[in-house]
Amino acid sequence: MVGTARKVGIVGIGNVGKAAASAIVHENIADDLYISDIDTERAKGEAWDFADSIELTQSRTRVQAVPLEQLAECHVILVAVNERKKVISSSRLELLKGSAAIAYDIVPRLKDAGFKGIYVIATNPCDIITYLFYKLSGLPRKKVIGTGTALDSMRLRRQISEAIGGIDPRSITAYMIGEHGDSQFAAWSHVSVGGKPFDEYESDDIDRFGKIDRDKIEETARHFGWEIHKRKGNTQFGIGNALAFFAKSILNDARHITAASAVQEGEYGREGLAIGVPVVLGRNGIEKIIRLNLNEKEQKAFKASADLIKGYIDQTLAEHGETAQS
Ligand code: 2OP
Repeated sequence: MVGTARKVGIVGIGNVGKAAASAIVHENIADDLYISDIDTERAKGEAWDFADSIELTQSRTRVQAVPLEQLAECHVILVAVNERKKVISSSRLELLKGSAAIAYDIVPRLKDAGFKGIYVIATNPCDIITYLFYKLSGLPRKKVIGTGTALDSMRLRRQISEAIGGIDPRSITAYMIGEHGDSQFAAWSHVSVGGKPFDEYESDDIDRFGKIDRDKIEETARHFGWEIHKRKGNTQFGIGNALAFFAKSILNDARHITAASAVQEGEYGREGLAIGVPVVLGRNGIEKIIRLNLNEKEQKAFKASADLIKGYIDQTLAEHGETAQS
């Protein structure tokens, strides 16, 4: 029984899992934080270390290391596992084999343990792994959510902010759509600043900032994760906070709108995949998928990204003896 205490689980206590746990504890997002990792002693050490920190925070979160199956008690499970010590050089897709093997191991175990809550998945390649979690868990699609292009959209908003004099990115509506990877694109047709369409906002300030280099902004956002990865060997705080933010939005029924990797059933003319689109996040997970009326250029980019994701999903399912329909 889940009960009333806000229980959040994290599977995978590497750099991303630790960053998510730190945000969960320091923002008092959960009453109970369960940590599970294949390295059980490491999980214990991290849980005890977090427990040491609690008295010095505003939090009363109880942090404990648990066996994987005990995560079934949680409202939300944050998924931050990846193939140990795997080094990638140019694409998150290099992680697919190892991450898929982990999904085929842990999702059936959690299903058998009775997990009926919500998954939030950061494990890369995020869209494909999100869809595998959906297929293997048997949960309704609204309860299987990937962080997808949430982080990329924050990167896009920050780039736009810097180009227009430092407006708070939270006052800018802008989404990276598609794969959490190289085929993502900015939906410029739906960017607004303080509610004003970007085309109009830009022309108002054309004397101050000149013509904004949209391609450069979009390319910077698309590859920002790699620029960090090249310099520190991973990314952790942006994605870790994104996981914690998704958990908070769900537990608080915030009805917050964010980009996320959502399993499609035709909202954008496609099905059988998860892909980054704007969604409403609340107590049930994805309360609604928001359909943007993409322009022709954006529709082409969406198709290319969806085709890429679907190809890898179908290939992975086939490798594991399944079809997209099964
Ligand atoms: C990122 O872009 C981890 O893929 C994630 O930071």
